[in-house]
Amino acid sequence: MLPFHKAVEDDFNAVNQLIIEQLHSDVELVENIGHYLVEAGGKRLRPLLALLSANALGYPERGSQHLNLAAIIEFIHTATLLHDDVVDISNMRRGRLTANAKWGNAPSVLVGDFLYSRAFQMMVAIGDMEIMRILSNTTNTISEGEVQQLVNVKNPKVSEANYLQVIYKKTAALFEAACETTAVLAGASAAQRQALKQYGYHLGLAFQLVDDVLDYEGDSAELGKNVGDDLAEGKPTLPLIYAMREGSDTQAQVVADAIRNCAAEQLQEVVSIVQATGALTYTGKLARDQADLALAQLQFLPDNRFRQAMAELAEFSISRSY
Ligand code: IPE
Ligand code: IPE
Ligand code: MG
Ligand code: MG
Ligand code: MG
Repeated sequence: MLPFHKAVEDDFNAVNQLIIEQLHSDVELVENIGHYLVEAGGKRLRPLLALLSANALGYPERGSQHLNLAAIIEFIHTATLLHDDVVDISNMRRGRLTANAKWGNAPSVLVGDFLYSRAFQMMVAIGDMEIMRILSNTTNTISEGEVQQLVNVKNPKVSEANYLQVIYKKTAALFEAACETTAVLAGASAAQRQALKQYGYHLGLAFQLVDDVLDYEGDSAELGKNVGDDLAEGKPTLPLIYAMREGSDTQAQVVADAIRNCAAEQLQEVVSIVQATGALTYTGKLARDQADLALAQLQFLPDNRFRQAMAELAEFSISRSY
């Protein structure tokens, strides 16, 4: 358990319990796949954002819907992972075989749909139109981001701006929504709502920038997923975009060809280029800047241990190795 989990330990355990309960289905395969993925753990950062935000604003003295909201957000996240591993043809997640590797693509896609729709059933139970509006927009944005990224595959000409748009949509949007919907639930002031939204936005960008660095220099056993999957799929992430821009003509050519050919077998060569050109350092620096922007928003929240934990979570997001 990470130090920032400790701050909301009881809530966190209650959410984990709720997640298990809400996986209920009469169809055994749904439960099997759901439990398989959920029991493998995962960092649960997005539900933690909801729990920490709610506690920072003192909401638990007035209600318990933040627990449902946190579970909803983890369900949306888990659904995106099921679909993501199919489109990325990934075979390792949370230290286990992916659901698609174990059961195949069709069950993974369908159980992903089950989880999305269960999240929406739970949202209706909360009964707040503004929360529903934010989360439905976010779910739509995530799907759009994944499709935009798919369009970019094998294209070495994708710009840094396009890349940043993709990572906002596919990842940061959910971090942002976790914080903003909690602000709505807690009846936060307009200024606090905006600060929480911005905190989630910047944190989410930092998180995905680091994820894209770890795909080149992470340790697969520690990460619980394979490194090199992005290159194997011909994904022009920032480390590659930067290396093509700042590297020599030869280096740029090697990287561009590797993207076009999804050249998994050239991973070592590409890793040495992203290291030599400073591309991983550059991407890490951008993540640091985003984490700082997230941290700057915390001054608008009450000064308490939950806010402190949110600062620790931002630091973890960029120093993490898993
Ligand atoms: C993985 O998210 C998907 C990305 C947005 C990079 P996490 O790294 O939060 O996955 P889990 O939930 O901890 O497994
Ligand atoms: C994840 O991006 C984004 C979503 C799940 C929507 P990645 O494809 O980089 O995530 P990992 O590396 O497989 O966890
Ligand atoms: Mg993936
Ligand atoms: Mg992906
Ligand atoms: Mg990744």
